[in-house]
Amino acid sequence: MGNPIKRIGILTSGGDAPGMNAAVVSVARSAALYGVSLVGIKRGYNGLLRRSAQLADDAVELDLDTVLDIADQPGTYLRTARCEEFLDPAWRAKAAQHVRDMGIEGLVIIGGDGSYQGAMRLCELGVPCVGIPGTIDNDLAYTEMTLGYDTAVNVCVDAIRAIRATSRSHDRPAVVEVMGRNCGDIALKAAVSTGAEIVIVPEVPWHIDDVADRLNRLIARGNNRVTVVVAEGAYASMAPFDVYGFLTARGKQCYPGEGISALRLASILKRKCGMVEARSTVLGYVQRGQQPAAYDSAFAFEAGNLAVRLLLAGDSNRVVGIRDGRIFHMDITQALAERRAFHRELYDLVNEL
Ligand code: ADP
Ligand code: F6P
Repeated sequence: MGNPIKRIGILTSGGDAPGMNAAVVSVARSAALYGVSLVGIKRGYNGLLRRSAQLADDAVELDLDTVLDIADQPGTYLRTARCEEFLDPAWRAKAAQHVRDMGIEGLVIIGGDGSYQGAMRLCELGVPCVGIPGTIDNDLAYTEMTLGYDTAVNVCVDAIRAIRATSRSHDRPAVVEVMGRNCGDIALKAAVSTGAEIVIVPEVPWHIDDVADRLNRLIARGNNRVTVVVAEGAYASMAPFDVYGFLTARGKQCYPGEGISALRLASILKRKCGMVEARSTVLGYVQRGQQPAAYDSAFAFEAGNLAVRLLLAGDSNRVVGIRDGRIFHMDITQALAERRAFHRELYDLVNEL
């Protein structure tokens, strides 16, 4: 392939996601194939600001030998971080200049919605960018799946199956909190995949009394080992409920989501449903720091190559995704303008069956 571009960069940004390293390896292999050098930018957009004492702390040459070992590893070899300064146009202008100073002619940016906002701004400053959707949250509307989501769901499924085995053994319900920020996809998919009887998500407003009623109905039907899967972002969509007052018998004014947690949700449900015990588990970072499952590894393989080909073809300001099960790309601005459609019917089915 004859191409005018000789040097590209790559960074990972936002929360780490399983498959980020595999995507970096795919980009590195593609760069080597097409005769392009590759610079790894460290700690998301921070590396572009070049504030470290040593340049090597901000950017490293990525040769194939360096990256081939990391494909299956959890986490991100390039490190990741949030970067508040990148919200400031003055810092972004400096970053764009540093990109040019390093001789980088195009950037592959692996991250979620926020990282894409940053990429879009860099594009506006004349830095060609291609995005790979790296986040466990699955909160980007334009793609059916984000990189890391499938692995995170599989982790939740393994954990919930284990928790359900103990719930069954002890005849007690369980509350399991999963990640996803403002998106309920991990919770819904994990609930559907494990047969969990109640799912609570940010997209659907809910009241703790309705959850208790559902649990009471299930108990009356003979199921006292119910699993409640709650998305971490769902506390914000909970109708006001006096959590402290209920648990301490001292009532006070309350606001949506105030004082609630998986632990307290389990305690409240236990009391409202007259159960002897109800346990809670917060899955947290175990969902992120994982070796990628096959789906994410395969996605990373294709996405990394497509990203490099797009940059070399001068077809930048694009994002890579999956539609109808196949890899595709589209304009970053249009992608970010798309709105997610939550699978409400599936949610209702979980909570009604
Ligand atoms: P994710 O990419 O997983 O959604 P964040 O929302 O934390 O993660 O965003 C990651 C980083 O992207 C932020 O720390 C910031 O550096 C950059 N970013 C987020 N939003 C914007 C924005 N509106 N403009 C420019 N950069 C942004
Ligand atoms: O975006 C990925 C994610 O894991 C979200 O699910 C979660 O809300 C957030 O990152 C947690 O971020 P932090 O790395 O700051 O704990």
